[in-house]
Amino acid sequence: MDLKSYLQTKRSIVEQALQDVMLKPEGLLADHIQAMSYSLFAGGKRVRPILCIAAAESLDTDLNGLLPVATTLEFIHTYSLIHDDLPAMDNDELRRGKPTNHIVYGEAEAILAGDGLLTMAFEILSDPDLGTRLGAEKQLRLIHILSSAAGPQGMVGGQAIDIASEGKEIPFDTLRYLHRCKTGALITAAVQMGAVLGNANQEQFQALTDYGRNIGLAFQIVDDLLDVEGTTEQLGKKAGSDAALKKATYPALFGLEETKKRAQAAVAAAITALESFDMKADPLREIANYIYFRKR
Ligand code: IPE
Ligand code: IPE
Ligand code: MG
Ligand code: MG
Ligand code: MG
Repeated sequence: MDLKSYLQTKRSIVEQALQDVMLKPEGLLADHIQAMSYSLFAGGKRVRPILCIAAAESLDTDLNGLLPVATTLEFIHTYSLIHDDLPAMDNDELRRGKPTNHIVYGEAEAILAGDGLLTMAFEILSDPDLGTRLGAEKQLRLIHILSSAAGPQGMVGGQAIDIASEGKEIPFDTLRYLHRCKTGALITAAVQMGAVLGNANQEQFQALTDYGRNIGLAFQIVDDLLDVEGTTEQLGKKAGSDAALKKATYPALFGLEETKKRAQAAVAAAITALESFDMKADPLREIANYIYFRKR
């Protein structure tokens, strides 16, 4: 399969779905909605919604409601980036090739834009009409997967450990846990939500979860690598920012060569987890490789 055209097609489907669910900047809230839209439509890779779609399509046919569900991952992800860039956190001024949210709208509005996106994700996911299409049980399962992945046992918890670990040498187990939480949890949730939408049985759900955990870890290890080896122009965010902040990263702990081996091993483990899946899982297999070879 041609992954490049697959990603292009899915990206434009996700862009449209995001437009469909996002509020329009009108009335008294126009500025607030504009601030949320600025980051939401700044041109991310859309990896998480695409993973949700690819996981669902690796299984089955009953894909009613798939797109609005997939968008909720991008709402949470974009909020996490806006807050991650704030002066109190990573203090970055460039994101997705544009000035960060707080640089354009100020810190207070950037905090609120993040809050708005976070909360909207669950407004979309709990929508009664979506519940009618999906069934209440499936809808509740999706809400639980996304909220646990976004919260203290997932992304937010990982971010807390990340900030607390700045300037410190932390043990490998802590570093891996931090990566699994801050980035791995939402990526795993993307795949699990696709699994639920595709009516996975228990074994399929477990296999997709293993796949998600491994690519989730690989994704953050490669993000750390790109921070060292990429350029600001290529990444659309400031290269070298981890070293400047003395972040706990794989390259800092292991050096570049060993870090690459570990990322490759996680990708290989992800592909192995899909052994019992047929050709419909090829996009997932290709995305696993893409996560390692991507340049931004
Ligand atoms: C960047 O995520 C932050 C991490 C969790 C590593 P992405 O690399 O998916 O960023 P976008 O969405 O494409 O901008
Ligand atoms: C952030 O990790 C992960 C999030 C939950 C946002 P990084 O701080 O390394 O992400 P970038 O490099 O700024 O995108
Ligand atoms: Mg960070
Ligand atoms: Mg950052
Ligand atoms: Mg990074």
